[in-house]
Amino acid sequence: MATCRAVRMRLAPRGALQKFLRPVSALTPSAPVLVFDSGVGGLSVLAEIRALLPQAPIVYAADNAWHPYGQKSEHEIAARVPALLGRLAERYHPRIIVIACNTAATIALADVRAALDLPIVGTVPAVKPAALASVNRAIAVLGTAATVRQPYVDRLVAEFAPDCLVIRHGSPELVALAEAKLRGTPVPAEAIAAAVAPIFAQAGAERVDQIVLACTHFPLLRDELAAACPPGVALVDSGAGIARRTAFLTQGQPWPDLPGEGRKEGIAVFTANTPDLPLLTPALNGYGLTRIDLL
Ligand code: DGL
Repeated sequence: MATCRAVRMRLAPRGALQKFLRPVSALTPSAPVLVFDSGVGGLSVLAEIRALLPQAPIVYAADNAWHPYGQKSEHEIAARVPALLGRLAERYHPRIIVIACNTAATIALADVRAALDLPIVGTVPAVKPAALASVNRAIAVLGTAATVRQPYVDRLVAEFAPDCLVIRHGSPELVALAEAKLRGTPVPAEAIAAAVAPIFAQAGAERVDQIVLACTHFPLLRDELAAACPPGVALVDSGAGIARRTAFLTQGQPWPDLPGEGRKEGIAVFTANTPDLPLLTPALNGYGLTRIDLL
C-alpha cells in the first residue's frame, strides 16, 4: 500500500524500526503507555486506563496543531498519524500505543501498525455492544464527520448490527464544546441540544435506544448529552473496552512498584504551543498529567 511504504521511508528504514520491538525482559518499569488523540478527547480513554492500570506511567499526546481531525480528509490523516506516532515513539519509548481517537483509528490503524513495531490499540465505534443492547433494533452512531463516513464503520454495522436501523451523525460542534469544557468554559445546554437534534430529525429516530459515542471527546460531555437525549436512550462508548485490551496486551510486564507512581509522572505532550494551553492545566492535573511537553 503506497501510504505505508511512504510512511516507512519517511520514518526510518525497516531495520531501525525493529528497535521498538522489545522483549518483556527488556522493558523498564517506567516505559509508558502512550495515549494519543487530536486533542483532549483521549482523556476519556485515559480515565478508563488509569482505573484498570493505576501504576502505569502515562504519556498523553495531543495533536493540537492539527486539531480537529474530524474535518480533515482520509488522505491527510493517513499521511500524518503514522509519522507523528513514530516521532512520539522515538522520543518516549512507549511499551504500547493507544490511539484514543476514533477518527485516526478508523482511517489509519492499519497504516500505524504497518509502520511501527509496537502493540497498537485502536479506539473504534462501539457498534457491537450498542447493537447487542438495543431492544428496538435502532442505534445512532455519533462521531466526527470523518468517522461516520468510514468503510470501517460500514463493516462494523454489517457485522454486528445488520438488522438494526443505524443513524449516523457527525458533529464538529460537540468536539469544540468538549474542548471548551476542559478549558473551563461552561457548556450551554442549548448548544448540546442543537448538536444532537439532527439525529432525532431522521426517519425512525424515535426507535433509537442506544447512541454510540464514536468520538472520544463525547464521553467528556456524557452528563450534558444524557440530559439532551430522550429518556431511555443509553450512551455507549469504547473506553472501558480499550482499557481492558491495553491491560491484556501488557499483562506480565513490569510496572513501577508503588501504585500511583506512574500517575505522578504523567506527561501531556502537545504539537503546538497555543495561547490557551495553560487553561488546560487544571483538567490535565485532574488526570494525573503534571508535566507538559511540546513536540
Ligand atoms: N477525539 C477524536 C475522535 O475520537 C476526534 C476529534 C477531532 O479531532 O475532530 O474521533
